Amino acid sequence: MTTTKQHYDELLGRVYAWSVASAGDPMRWLEARALLDAQRYLDLGAGFGAHALPLLAAGKQVTAVDFNAELLGQLRDAAGTEPGLTLQQADLINYLEACGDAEWDVILCLGDTLTHLESAAAVQQLFAGVARHLRSGGRFALGYRDSSAFAAEGLARFVPVASDRTRVMYCLLEAIDATYLRVTDIVTELTAEGPRTRLGEYQKLRLAREVVTDWAGRVGLVLLSEGVERGMTSLVFQRP
Ligand SMILES: C[S@@+](CC[C@H](N)C(=O)[O-])C[C@H]1O[C@@H](n2cnc3c(N)ncnc32)[C@H](O)[C@@H]1O
Repeated sequence: MTTTKQHYDELLGRVYAWSVASAGDPMRWLEARALLDAQRYLDLGAGFGAHALPLLAAGKQVTAVDFNAELLGQLRDAAGTEPGLTLQQADLINYLEACGDAEWDVILCLGDTLTHLESAAAVQQLFAGVARHLRSGGRFALGYRDSSAFAAEGLARFVPVASDRTRVMYCLLEAIDATYLRVTDIVTELTAEGPRTRLGEYQKLRLAREVVTDWAGRVGLVLLSEGVERGMTSLVFQRP
């Protein structure tokens, strides 16, 4: 199967920002979880900057890490000369291993980025890195889809993602086993030669909220708040 990076590089990176245009207001999400009182933010899997851009506009310092060049380019272009932005094109775990003694007040891993990691071990490694790089009292915010109980069958496996006059996107979700979902993105676009459909697949982790909370606890992170909104589980932890 295509790796997640290949999938973003070959298909999803180009349409991702368009596909989530109607998602909720990122600043409202951060505000509701009391995450706007800090100065130094690390955005893991920042994408085109759904959270990084409004944080920069609010005068925050943001380190944005992502392995997709297309999305980071969109973020760089939209940020313009914003002085608070540091961009890093890197794998998230490699970045956390390599960033020395850097410390942040708030670390974000939002928009389902967590489930893109390749294994349970990778998630635990990410959490260990987060705990190392949070200042004492700093917070770690996670937003992801808990598909541990996924059981859709037949047509219910086809999820409409976004559409407009020239493009429509669905994704097909299928359980591979208890650990992984196969996600097939189906993007049809009008071209000069007529409609063209492109398919790409990758796998996502099925992470139960209890398991994620337990792994975070093992690296010393304390759960501050949790919730589920529009199918996304949110968990906010603090390093004591
Ligand atoms: C679903 S998008 C979420 C983007 C953004 N956080 C948001 O809320 O819109 C996942 C992002 O994580 C990036 N990503 C996934 N796995 C990664 C990894 N192992 N290392 C670096 N970036 C990764 C993808 O390129 C993509 O931009």
